Amino acid sequence: MLDTEKRVERIDASNTAQCTIRLKSGESFSVHKNELLLMGALRQGISYPHTCTVGTCGRCKTKLSHGRISPLVDFALSPLTNRELEQGYVLACQAKVRTDLDIDVTLLDHDLILPRPMAGEITGWRLLEGDVIDLRVRFDEAFTFQPGQYGALAVSGSYVRRSFSFYDPAPGPEGTREVGFLIKRLPQGRFSDWLARFDRRGVRIWMEAPFGQMGIDDVARDAVCIGGGTGISPVLSIAHDRLTRFPKNKVIIIFGVRSQADLFALDKLDAVKQRAPKNVTILPILSHEPAGSAWRGRRGLVTDAINENLKTDLTKAAAFVCGNLPMVVAVEDRLKVLGMPEDQIHADKFEPSGL
Ligand code: FES
Repeated sequence: MLDTEKRVERIDASNTAQCTIRLKSGESFSVHKNELLLMGALRQGISYPHTCTVGTCGRCKTKLSHGRISPLVDFALSPLTNRELEQGYVLACQAKVRTDLDIDVTLLDHDLILPRPMAGEITGWRLLEGDVIDLRVRFDEAFTFQPGQYGALAVSGSYVRRSFSFYDPAPGPEGTREVGFLIKRLPQGRFSDWLARFDRRGVRIWMEAPFGQMGIDDVARDAVCIGGGTGISPVLSIAHDRLTRFPKNKVIIIFGVRSQADLFALDKLDAVKQRAPKNVTILPILSHEPAGSAWRGRRGLVTDAINENLKTDLTKAAAFVCGNLPMVVAVEDRLKVLGMPEDQIHADKFEPSGL
């Protein structure tokens, strides 16, 4: 069971006691006592590194040299290595602040858009191949986001929040009121199963957004974009962004699903291709297509499609990878074996929410 569903801890707004967070660089900021360190920073527009916000990517790792936090998860089972644990590293997205803290983390030199809550209405609901819902929501006011970012959605009045990436091209500074999400139905998914049972157009919905930094890469270079299942959603947004900002560079999209029956979003991929037919390559690959079927395309795992025949220099290109945790780890390993430096790989790993 997998999905883009990610849990995001609610801020306890009722607790107004403040804790001071001092950075090694000399800067400082305050968060509410019991607030998650990352959320407290983002709430104030501080460019704190993060991607998943749920403890899987390791991007928010922070060295804690003084003060006390309460971890929401067992850090021994997180992406932190034993050595990092010994050195006092914690995951800021999973650390409730209990006291003033002294920390060491390198803030981004890229401005972040402040996440904020907003309300809207479901305006589009379409069941696609592979039990994926193409959901469109129109919000009451305009907001903006960067390519590859996501929002945490909840039905109005519900505490069940799940995070899903925007597939639309990122809007300009004027923002947009309507966005789309690709959501895989999970048999017991409290959000996705509820969503999939009926056409939900007209239902009010709530969102906090935007989150994530996967698409941030300001270097003009070829892009290898890899999406597993609904991980194609942020990849679509990133691909549009690359074509707009770096029209001379190639965009190669590898889209992995199980079988032909699961090949959703081909129309959206085709729209990317039509923008620059010579520069865009779309490579669907099927992992469980029945032998002997009429499929003449690639078979295997997405890692099988990453090879020397990609017609780009992987040592110079950037990669944008989104999918479940094992897939993303395997892709990262494969790219590194083929010579791509780690800092050119941008990844968003998702795990099932379990609910
Ligand atoms: S582990 Fe904290 S943002 Fe991903």
